[in-house]
Amino acid sequence: MSVEPTTGPTVGPTLETVGWVGSAGEGVVRLIDQTRLPSEFLQIDCPDVETVWEAITMLRVRGAPAIGVAAAFGAVLGARRRGLASIETVRDALRASTARLRTSRPTAVNLFWALDRMDRVGEAEAALADSPAALLDRLLLEAKTIEQEDRAMCRAIGRHGAELIGQGQGVLTHCNAGGLATSDYGTALAVIFSAAEQGKSVHVYADETRPLLQGARLTAWELQRRNIPVTVICDSMAAQVMKEGRVQAVVVGADRIAANGDSANKIGTYGVALAARAHEIPFYVAAPSSTFDLALPDGSLIPIEERDPREVTHGFGRQTVPDGVDVYNPAFDVTPARLISGIITEKGVIAPVSTEGIRAMLLG
Ligand code: MRU
Repeated sequence: MSVEPTTGPTVGPTLETVGWVGSAGEGVVRLIDQTRLPSEFLQIDCPDVETVWEAITMLRVRGAPAIGVAAAFGAVLGARRRGLASIETVRDALRASTARLRTSRPTAVNLFWALDRMDRVGEAEAALADSPAALLDRLLLEAKTIEQEDRAMCRAIGRHGAELIGQGQGVLTHCNAGGLATSDYGTALAVIFSAAEQGKSVHVYADETRPLLQGARLTAWELQRRNIPVTVICDSMAAQVMKEGRVQAVVVGADRIAANGDSANKIGTYGVALAARAHEIPFYVAAPSSTFDLALPDGSLIPIEERDPREVTHGFGRQTVPDGVDVYNPAFDVTPARLISGIITEKGVIAPVSTEGIRAMLLG
């Protein structure tokens, strides 16, 4: 397994979070290694499905939509790994690769949504393609389409969500739901970027987001490079900051939204929603339709990833917990729909949040 580091651009608002470079037969998946931010901007090239699997598992690429896009491109790498001897060879390699990628992370449904799409195209095109190379080209086209659609959905989420943000407001967010978590522009941060582009002055409070600090490392980095004022706070400070009247809205992303609106997002989001309710501050979830899992009636069925305790005991290289002490490290929690003021999608804002409202917006 090899990963080639390449340095990339450090300025400019548009992020190339994850993309494909080269032809279907010889290209690679290029992604920003988010574990290195904010101290280093580094892009890595993944030449095979295993390096993409490792990148997702280790959070080099993370955030629900970005995981889906990375997996779709990873499936193309996997489809060619046994060579192009026959259409069946490519189709079978694709099946094995998507099965492998499905094991990378359990909570973000965008991963499974994107891989389902790749599998469907693989099965349908295997019957139609006139060569193995044509099948591979078709798979790459589908992955690129997923990436482009995600860009468009993020822009639309930004447009709808900006209407909910008032001039001069303080907005609190948790984790990173920005361009780094999507193809570009983000979901929760898209709302803030779009409000700022409309000329509204917004001050963002970014929870640092223990244990891996996606808020401090990534959200603050994204806001700073767009010149949007941001104050990083420890997660435990959110309620106090609300009580001081600094926050008029909360906007967060989601990893999986059940049919009734219960929303899984980075651990700590539920606590933020409770604090927002106690202070009568609107709490919004911003997510594309690819983040909804209508097969799950409610959030109790959403699988919650448990990660290595060392992320808690040895965060960023220093031991902070005595040896032998028990640690629990769920990566996500589920905010009940009743605490969510609205869900901002690319199709519009679902408010109030209900099973019927979600179905009407997504399927109507
Ligand atoms: O563990 P992570 O960093 O992948 O968790 C990411 C989040 O929880 C994001 O808020 C979520 O994926 C929304 S991204 C637009």
